[in-house]
Amino acid sequence: LKTFTKKFLVLLLTLAMLASMLTAFAADVPAKTAKALPADVAADAWYVKAVQYVWQNGYMQGTAAGFEPEATVSRAQLFTTLYRIEGSPAVASASSFADVPAGAWYAKAAAWAKETGLASGTSKGFEGSAPIQRQQMAKVLAAYAALKGKTLKVGSLSQFSDADKIASYASSAVAMMAGSGVMAGSAGKADPTGTVTRAQLAQFLSNFAGAKLQTAYDSKLRPLLLEGAMGIETTTMISALTDTENYRLGQWDYVAGTYEGYPVVVCRTEQGEANAAASTALAMEFFNPVAVIDQGTSGGHDPALHTYDIVLGKQTFDGSAWRSAQSAKGAGVDYKAIEMLGVYAYDAEQKTFTQQVYYPGDEKLLAAAEAVKSTYTQGKIVEGNIDTCDCWNNQVDRMLYYYEKFGSSCEEMETNAVAQVCKSYSVPFLGVRILSNTGIYGESFDWKTGEACQNYTLSVAKQYITSCLKSAPSSETANTGVSSLNSQSYDKTLRPFMIEGAMNAETKTMIAALEKPTTYTLGQYTYVAGTYHGYPMVICRTEQGLANAGASTALGVSFFNPAAIINQGTSGGHDPELHMGAIVVGARTVNYCAWKTAASAKGAGADYVLFQRQL
Ligand code: 5AD
Repeated sequence: LKTFTKKFLVLLLTLAMLASMLTAFAADVPAKTAKALPADVAADAWYVKAVQYVWQNGYMQGTAAGFEPEATVSRAQLFTTLYRIEGSPAVASASSFADVPAGAWYAKAAAWAKETGLASGTSKGFEGSAPIQRQQMAKVLAAYAALKGKTLKVGSLSQFSDADKIASYASSAVAMMAGSGVMAGSAGKADPTGTVTRAQLAQFLSNFAGAKLQTAYDSKLRPLLLEGAMGIETTTMISALTDTENYRLGQWDYVAGTYEGYPVVVCRTEQGEANAAASTALAMEFFNPVAVIDQGTSGGHDPALHTYDIVLGKQTFDGSAWRSAQSAKGAGVDYKAIEMLGVYAYDAEQKTFTQQVYYPGDEKLLAAAEAVKSTYTQGKIVEGNIDTCDCWNNQVDRMLYYYEKFGSSCEEMETNAVAQVCKSYSVPFLGVRILSNTGIYGESFDWKTGEACQNYTLSVAKQYITSCLKSAPSSETANTGVSSLNSQSYDKTLRPFMIEGAMNAETKTMIAALEKPTTYTLGQYTYVAGTYHGYPMVICRTEQGLANAGASTALGVSFFNPAAIINQGTSGGHDPELHMGAIVVGARTVNYCAWKTAASAKGAGADYVLFQRQL
């Protein structure tokens, strides 16, 4: 029955896709504008249909010489074509980039591209006459799809023999072009730095109109979600999956597949608390995981541990969630004079966000990790306390202080943020961290630890799947496919303005100002949507802290598609010119916790001034 249902679904999807392609085509080609193709487009050329599409619609107009199918596409031509597809809307200013003269034929297109963010320009400016590379075009078309609210299907780069040549800034865009069928590559190559002919551009644009979109995750079982921040922390797990399907939620990459006969999803969270929380919250909604393991590299705090030793998070905590004791001007800063405050996660029993310092790892996941301990031969495995903070601390005294005072085994940047989101969703969680460096012993970062930790995590996953998930009642593992993002609807005719505040005191006045308010709950966060001065507005209550703000904003962006966001609320003064009630408008913002300290040895103390704002 399952295969039948799947086949039927595929058939339905194909039909739906065909229908949408046909209607898209029909709508784009009004019969009255039908005009003959230029003489340089041979009737039997491979691109004739595509050229017909861009020609009849006036998207590409050619020159006196004809369509010039073999001519190379310039940056100006690409943006002009997209601008025409958008109906050449009015632009605020005709002069956009320093190297675009006001009278240039592509001046408006360049201004539009800048306004929409499709072109940020190169170091040299807009560079209108420069040929556009295939990977650059992929990046622009991916951004254009996002602008149109189209979530393209993501493919795998491993199909390209030259995948290693793709620039990292473009890799996910190239994967998206491949998966959606917009730019398939040629002869098994992505040819990222190659140029594009006009015939090819016509083909890409016509493919774009019927591009394959990302479909819902259709596993009947709730998957196990495995996470890592970087490539060195995810690729080994991804390679262990079979029947893979790539997904992109927001700007984060996920690979779903099967491992040991059970559905498993690998999420690349990217670095830091906000990324980890946002990517996990989106995964909760889209994949509905049954349990989560966040794993990766870390720096050692416990003197009993060395590089390649692995810490199982019996507990995790946020080492940046502290309040310092008061001290006056001139008194210096004692790094020890802090009290851990913990962070807020939704508590299902108390039905509210509650503050907590230590987040326990799930007992069954811990038991599975303990059960396969002996398979790991590259170091010790201990249960411990994982300290999460966006900082990279190189001061040995501070490491030892965190170890002695807060029981910290190691430091890293994601685990507790993920624990917090998992607690909010009542999903079992475990952090697994390998030491990749120790300040205490001067062991510098060994990137191969990333692979070792993933291999061990795969053993843990196998154990958990066989000992728990396969025998779990279907009430635990059945995937309903219902999420807070797809079970509610919001009229997106106009992109709303979203304004955020963390607490009731920071949102209630704005909520009271809304006309026709409707309350939405995404995950466990509350949003009130209405209108203000005749324009749609959403007030998001982010709750406190980086992880909550990251998660609630990612969910809000995904659901409401806001045109702009203001985050506002209370703060403590740093600038001596400012007093209570003064308001700071953020010309820019900085993550105050994302620092790296200069190295200092045992006994040297921890000078609070010795940090570099680098991370
Ligand atoms: N301090 C902080 N983060 C570390 N990481 C590895 N070692 C450390 C350390 N000593 C991890 C973080 C982040 C990236 C910088 O590597 O989790 O993802």
